[in-house]
Amino acid sequence: MFTVLNQVSGKSFQSSGEESVLDGALSNGYNFPYGCQNGFCGQCKAVILNGEISYDGVTPEAISSEEEDANIALLCQCKAKSDLYIAVDELDSLANIQIRSMPCRVEEVNHLNHDVIQLTLKIPGSQSLQYLAGQYLDIEHPDFEPRAFSIANAPVNSNLIELHVRLVEGGQFTNFVFNTLTEKTILRIEGPKGSFFLREDSDCPIIFIAGGTGFGPIKAIIEHLILIQSSRPIHLYWGVRTEQDIYLNLPSDWSKNHSNINFIPVLSEPDSSWSGESGYVHETVVKDFENLTDYEVYACGPPVMVKAAAKSCLENNLMKENFFSDSFEYATVSTADE
Ligand SMILES: Cc1cc2nc3c(=O)[nH]c(=O)nc-3n(C[C@H](O)[C@H](O)[C@H](O)COP(=O)(O)OP(=O)(O)OC[C@H]3O[C@@H](n4cnc5c(N)ncnc54)[C@H](O)[C@@H]3O)c2cc1C
Ligand code: FES
Repeated sequence: MFTVLNQVSGKSFQSSGEESVLDGALSNGYNFPYGCQNGFCGQCKAVILNGEISYDGVTPEAISSEEEDANIALLCQCKAKSDLYIAVDELDSLANIQIRSMPCRVEEVNHLNHDVIQLTLKIPGSQSLQYLAGQYLDIEHPDFEPRAFSIANAPVNSNLIELHVRLVEGGQFTNFVFNTLTEKTILRIEGPKGSFFLREDSDCPIIFIAGGTGFGPIKAIIEHLILIQSSRPIHLYWGVRTEQDIYLNLPSDWSKNHSNINFIPVLSEPDSSWSGESGYVHETVVKDFENLTDYEVYACGPPVMVKAAAKSCLENNLMKENFFSDSFEYATVSTADE
């Protein structure tokens, strides 16, 4: 057993060295920041001030060689090889949120368009899921590896969970959702997970950048902002390929009914009748906001979009600590033994 001591909080926990440092922290009730838990998004990066860690296999791509030289590690992938002294800013807002595994019943399978299903899950009995708008959960099914999906509704009636599931070509679980899953099926969920949630101690204007079903968790956060009657200026940019991919009219309704909400759809492959914004969504954002010093940006969707949005926004003076993201990372299928 090794002791992992966090310099920032002064708190410590024991790690067997068999599990990742992040898993050890989470199972001991510490609110370390993280996202994908796959080694891709980089949200679990922390400085190892002293001690040795190792990765199974090669160093994950999310760590650059400069970061490795500066003793920055990906806590979701590294294991303790000695006592560790690390520096991690814990997230206070997650203090009362517990990750739980529970059964749920498929209440509704609603096709929103050709490749997005709105799945409503009901947690039976008197149980409910306590979560922060923006977080995700893992769906567990005996025939598949767990799959991550963001919760798309604000935590009001929290025994009903809404998910927006995009069909992945050749994807095992999403094809099952589209072709086989029926109402009343019992699934298991584990959650809530992740550090993508509204920082409520700020009153900065917010720019939301959604790519495809990255709109789901952003929808949950905006619903929450509306519920708490926030007057923070909100600019929602939703990037999709074509007009048909804007799978809900809600954002237009929000901007009609709330003077602080501005909705800008951005199409990457518009047809000739489209007169709105076109191109990549992050490019429209940085065209509209040349100086992002006083803003917070929340970006969610495909990894390539989130990365591009981070780079462009930081170039336009966004402060690094004001960029929050959830990257829909996925494991690539190995072709080694094909
Ligand atoms: C934190 C988090 C939150 C997420 N939230 C959502 C959400 O709210 N809605 C949503 O639709 N998706 C979301 N995703 C992505 C979702 O988890 C994957 O699309 C899903 O796991 C694919 O499962 P599958 O079994 O169908 O595909 P697999 O069988 O695992 O993959 C089949 C092939 O497709 C590739 N692939 C897998 N997923 C994707 C993808 N998303 N895009 C492109 N190629 C892919 C794989 O690399 C593989 O080559 C989220 C991911 C993360 C990490
Ligand atoms: S890389 Fe560790 S949580 Fe995403």
